[in-house]
Amino acid sequence: MRAPASERRLDWIVDHLDLRPGHHVVEIGGGHGIAASRVLERIGPEGRYLGIDRSEKMTAAARSRNEAAVAEGRARFEVADLLGARIPSASQDRIFAARVATLAKPEALAVALGWLVADGRLYLAFDHPDAARTSDSAADAVQAAGMLGATVVDVRRTVIDGNEVALVVVAP
Ligand SMILES: C[S@@+](CC[C@H](N)C(=O)[O-])C[C@H]1O[C@@H](n2cnc3c(N)ncnc32)[C@H](O)[C@@H]1O
Repeated sequence: MRAPASERRLDWIVDHLDLRPGHHVVEIGGGHGIAASRVLERIGPEGRYLGIDRSEKMTAAARSRNEAAVAEGRARFEVADLLGARIPSASQDRIFAARVATLAKPEALAVALGWLVADGRLYLAFDHPDAARTSDSAADAVQAAGMLGATVVDVRRTVIDGNEVALVVVAP
């Protein structure tokens, strides 16, 4: 049986995060923690995952789904808005967000970019049922990155069940 489209979308995104064992990863707005499980498999025992989501309900669900990694100290899930999250600057190898519209805005992007190490990368995935809105969100993120003096390394695209997904890759 095929996995649901939402899981295949998150699989494609995680496949394109250029993850390596030992990476320190932040996910913004991870919802149920489905991508978190995939990321934890890839970053291995030395890797660290931090999920921030402003919803208590989503954070509880994500923590429960990934409770073994939480118990081992490899994963943390915190209720926080990204604009108020207390994450040390220059501490993360990878940051990603899927379906979090606010990341296309310069003020949010600036905060997240500040958490990256010099050779780190930020990945923003957008998908809407209306492909034009997906392209608009990706274009907004590219423009915001440019305003901040960051480099857009790539814009990766795929189609899952007829729905376009765009992944904007940004270097600080
Ligand atoms: C549409 S869901 C996407 C969930 C998952 N990333 C996915 O792609 O299926 C958006 C999630 O982002 C969270 N979120 C939205 N804006 C946020 C912000 N500014 N800071 C932290 N979390 C945020 C919401 O609480 C929600 O869980």
